[in-house]
Amino acid sequence: MKRLKIGVLASGGGSNLQSIIDKSLEGSINGDVVVVISNNSKAKALKRAANHGIDGLHISSFTEGTQEKADKKICAEMVSRGIDLVVLAGYMRSVSSELLDTYEGRIINIHPALLPKFGGTGMYGMHVHEAVIASGEKESGPSVHYVDSEYDHGSIIAQVKVPVYPEDTPEILQKRVLVEEHKILPEVIQKIAEEWKS
Ligand code: GRF
Repeated sequence: MKRLKIGVLASGGGSNLQSIIDKSLEGSINGDVVVVISNNSKAKALKRAANHGIDGLHISSFTEGTQEKADKKICAEMVSRGIDLVVLAGYMRSVSSELLDTYEGRIINIHPALLPKFGGTGMYGMHVHEAVIASGEKESGPSVHYVDSEYDHGSIIAQVKVPVYPEDTPEILQKRVLVEEHKILPEVIQKIAEEWKS
């Protein structure tokens, strides 16, 4: 049975990347992370890739000279490896129109709030959890969605709700949401892998 070839774009700690790798190794994802690409040479995500013998590439405007060249290279690296699904797991750059066209309907992102609320420009990292708390929400939780040309905008595939308590700090809420991120993202990938073979 064909295994899904997964390409991950990540800029930071890569805990979501790790959850995908772990589930793939455990056998609950019928697929493999084949390449991890980061715009940040210091991203722990690249170390995690190396720990598992997965190709990890630092590609940015810094390495390539311009963002346009970096975007071209990212797309070429995905295509040359036969990547089926591109997963944005904490990627702090917008994806190029070339990647969107090449992988139409095959790029997903995880966002740490219940979209369409708390998404879009400026809504990343701790800012998201700060905004959720500041607005007095009673619930939050991760969303996995298809990626289109607008930030956090494509159609939502899955969401999980967690409570927001009055005493929560953004850090505490982030941890609670992250626990669910690590479950829902691999689950969505496995669903896609199942549809893939049928
Ligand atoms: C996660 O909260 C994810 O929802 C958001 O960026 C964060 C990445 O965390 N897009 P990690 O790098 O996977 O630990």
